[in-house]
Amino acid sequence: MQDLDEFTATDAALEQMAATPNARLKEIGDAAVRHMHAFAREVNLTPEEWLFGIQFLTDVGKACTPVRQEFILLSDVLGLSAVVNALHDKKARELGSQSSLLGPFYREGAPELPLGACIAAHPSVEEIVIYGRVTSNDGKPIAGALIQVWQTSEHGLYDLQTHGLEGTDLRANFRTDAQGRYHFRTVRPLGYSIPMDGPVGEMVKAQKRHGFRPSHIHFLIGGEGFRELVTALYFGDDEHIDSDTVFGVSGSLVVNAAEDPNSPVPGLRAVHYDFRLAAAAPGESGRVGADPTKMMQAAE
Ligand code: BEZ
Ligand code: FE
Repeated sequence: MQDLDEFTATDAALEQMAATPNARLKEIGDAAVRHMHAFAREVNLTPEEWLFGIQFLTDVGKACTPVRQEFILLSDVLGLSAVVNALHDKKARELGSQSSLLGPFYREGAPELPLGACIAAHPSVEEIVIYGRVTSNDGKPIAGALIQVWQTSEHGLYDLQTHGLEGTDLRANFRTDAQGRYHFRTVRPLGYSIPMDGPVGEMVKAQKRHGFRPSHIHFLIGGEGFRELVTALYFGDDEHIDSDTVFGVSGSLVVNAAEDPNSPVPGLRAVHYDFRLAAAAPGESGRVGADPTKMMQAAE
């Protein structure tokens, strides 16, 4: 029997895990143990701090509901989701439009609306139009591409935050036409605070961060034979455009609504954005994230 110290405990744990048959699970498990042990040694973690961390993660788990995924939020505010996205994009065969975070408010099965429809049930401000084309990386139109969009209202809340799972608003699915074109009407979303009433919000406040995301519209776009694109368009004049709490903004995704003579809906300010989808490798999916409702159902 060996008396363990703070270094040999790491070796002992790795040794016990050495027979893990799944090679990828072993690689991830080993690295997690090595990094966690090194972290504890680096900060000289005390038993009180260790318990505080356990309590924090317990609270994060308890805050999860069918309409709230606090662990995804934690990953987002720590920048981990942005790292996973960047690693995933690096593996692509070719680069399409820039990706961004899926976030915790995506839902499968939004209503499919005809091109040109307004996705806001009760717009209280002037509508804007979002339009453009979905093409392959070399500019060929993709007909029948599925475009899923979701956003906050002009007051800065998602439908899930105002009506739970009952009914949908400010989210819809569209199909591109034969020339790969799409357009829909909406209201300009308000930039909003990530949910601050849970353990992740407490952490963000303790770090003296503002907790805001700049105004944005989410897109999840798929076409036969193409990598699914998870992205968002961000409004450049939002005061938090350079300090997104979850690190989702990139320059190529920044837009502004402006008068536009080419808009398919004359008289409304428009955002013109063309999306490029990268060709998929066989069996590949571009998605980074999940419908949180489905995750809670799977756990039950
Ligand atoms: C969002 O874009 O909806 C979002 C992303 C990460 C955390 C919270 C919200
Ligand atoms: Fe969002």
